[in-house]
Amino acid sequence: MSMATTAEVTPPDAGAVEARVRDLLARMTLSEKIGQLSQVNAPWDGEDLPEDFAEAIRRGWIGSVLNAVGVEQVNEMQRIAVEESRLGIPLLVGRDVIHGFRTVFPIPLGQAASWNPELIREGARIAAREAASTGINWTFAPMVDIGRDPRWGRVAECLGEDPLLASRLGAAMVQGFQGDDLRADDAIVACAKHFAGYGASESGKDYAATNIPERELREVHLPPFRAAVDAGCQTLMASFSDLDGIPATANHFLMTTVLRDEWGFDGFVVSDWDSIHQLAIHGLTGSDRESAYEAAMAGVDMEMASRCYIEHLERLVEEERVPLERIDQMVANVLRVKFRAGAFESPYRDSALFPALGNDEHRAAAYESAVQSGVLLKNDHGTAGPTLPLDLDALDRIAVIGPLTDAPGEQLGTWIFDADASISTPPLASLRDACDGRCEIEVVRGLETTRDRRHDAFPAAVAAAQAADVALLFVGEDAILSGEAHCRADISLPGAQEALIEAVAATGTPVVLVIMAGRPLALESVTGFVDAVLYMWHPGCMGGPAIVDLLTGRRNPSGKLPITLPRVTGQIPIYYAHRRTGRPPTPESFVYIDDIPPHAQQLSIGNTSFHLDVWFRPLFSFGHGMSYTDFRYERLRLERDSVEIGQPVRVFVDLVNEGDRPGVEVAQLYLHDQVASVTRPVRELKDFQRVELEPGERRTLEFLLPPEAFAFIGRDMKPRVEPGRFSLWVGRDSDATLRVELELTRETRA
Ligand code: BGC
Repeated sequence: MSMATTAEVTPPDAGAVEARVRDLLARMTLSEKIGQLSQVNAPWDGEDLPEDFAEAIRRGWIGSVLNAVGVEQVNEMQRIAVEESRLGIPLLVGRDVIHGFRTVFPIPLGQAASWNPELIREGARIAAREAASTGINWTFAPMVDIGRDPRWGRVAECLGEDPLLASRLGAAMVQGFQGDDLRADDAIVACAKHFAGYGASESGKDYAATNIPERELREVHLPPFRAAVDAGCQTLMASFSDLDGIPATANHFLMTTVLRDEWGFDGFVVSDWDSIHQLAIHGLTGSDRESAYEAAMAGVDMEMASRCYIEHLERLVEEERVPLERIDQMVANVLRVKFRAGAFESPYRDSALFPALGNDEHRAAAYESAVQSGVLLKNDHGTAGPTLPLDLDALDRIAVIGPLTDAPGEQLGTWIFDADASISTPPLASLRDACDGRCEIEVVRGLETTRDRRHDAFPAAVAAAQAADVALLFVGEDAILSGEAHCRADISLPGAQEALIEAVAATGTPVVLVIMAGRPLALESVTGFVDAVLYMWHPGCMGGPAIVDLLTGRRNPSGKLPITLPRVTGQIPIYYAHRRTGRPPTPESFVYIDDIPPHAQQLSIGNTSFHLDVWFRPLFSFGHGMSYTDFRYERLRLERDSVEIGQPVRVFVDLVNEGDRPGVEVAQLYLHDQVASVTRPVRELKDFQRVELEPGERRTLEFLLPPEAFAFIGRDMKPRVEPGRFSLWVGRDSDATLRVELELTRETRA
């Protein structure tokens, strides 16, 4: 067996694949067909295959296995499928390879803060290579659900709040997993999930119902799936959630009207874990048989974990409720992907032909990803200049405080089934290396975990800070506080961390907060006390070196928020691309609770859209992220101020690095349609560029907006572009103020 890499294989011929699908289908019994539609959880854990399981594969009753661990076992499973089953159809072997495999990269939300599709593609390529070496040929990623509610634990796994950003980054992940050719041994099939709307679960509670009007569905939630499909993603996973009364797993509109008829998707849809069986728990059906019927007819091709298809589809076909043609379609969708993935030609994997798991090169990539995911939120100037970067030569003593100082497992975040925590480097070890005896480091964790409420160790932390030139506080969330089913009703720092920060800050020693968390946290009550804040998400196995290099200026921060940071939990949902309202808040109309006169009743206070007890802006806006150098934007201009609908629009801006060190800036372009037949968000991200500039360097950036950039979903639920005035901004974040106006005019047909 030799290993072909994605660069060495030629793309499959679509006609030949279809012919093979038809040929195979014609030779299959109904029971073998239904077998292809069944995905079974591996009933062993690194040991021998149980005989009943082997027999089920032999009889063609299993099309895919998930969570099969161990290359020998996987090869044995494939051998039984290929050599001992009647038709020799190989298995798809699925696993949640979400942000790395053995080498853990930052959580997807962290990777999204890089705004760097190329980096994300490379991370997924490495994850694919590591996973493939163990026999996995299908990952349940990327998750491209839009995350606008940070209470939701799975916000960790998403690519942020914005459809354009999530589309570009999700497509890059698909390309990374699937490589240039899916048949290569180091490529794995991608799965865009969870189709669709899962991120809108009510109250940020996992599995809760979603209510998304069709326009919002089409403008916000569906585009990243469309981008994944356009990038060649071969599978989609149906969401657990109920969408306006029809759970996604039984939603014909989503899986057939949109996905097949409108987008022309020809891969397959897998249910989520047990989600077909759960249709009865939702109350949509009264039995597993009806659930099988609903899911099959709506568009779910393969069932994960539960047994509704294997137990009931045959009967449903006999009763002529589910037409055989529908079964054939479902099976063809699955077989097509197996052929495209080269599973028939190369069902086995030989780990020895792959690079070692967690090797230096893979860890170097995880380091780069962690560096680029770090977002510098705040960096105050003291008397001697900005707090960061730290000059280790000028510091005698550093106090290192906080529960995440030295927590290699916690910094890995959620979804780390196959991780090796022993190759995870926490900040303390990296700081010791960097100091190399130049300065003293005093460590007081202060709290055992991020959830710890005890104040016993505070005096020691305060004493350490008092004696130090700077206090570094590593706080945030333990890994267990985010991820599937790990939602929070209060997204402030858990445990007694706020009190610890306050106590340390009261010493007057400069305080740098380094936050590692699975979600945006509501930090209003602490950011005022501290001098600098570096937001690292859960940064993965190379978090330590990345953090220390960012703190010391060996690397210049370039991450930008892919999601808004609220001030307090009650502001949720808060996202930049909201619609305006007829009564937008202004600084003048805002009234703060403490300013209301005593005993005031029925008073008109402001009468604009705000909460009385919190400033109406977020704490940090979407797109925000600072650098150690200063970037200035100027001369924003259009090629033409008036453009006919259907024509692209060219936008130019000059970007200058005014500081004294090289840096990377993510230049962001936002658009607003001033008057439309449907009200539009106050701004929408339409393009972005990562630009590296030397000190003093000036560059003219060019953006080319395609005609679709001006489209929205009209009253008839179809995309349309209307003539009129548009505002365009280019700048460092979603609050950019540099603006030009564009007139779109009616199309004149020659
Ligand atoms: C999750 C999916 C995941 C699947 C398999 C489900 O509970 O929602 O995202 O891929 O389990 O582990």
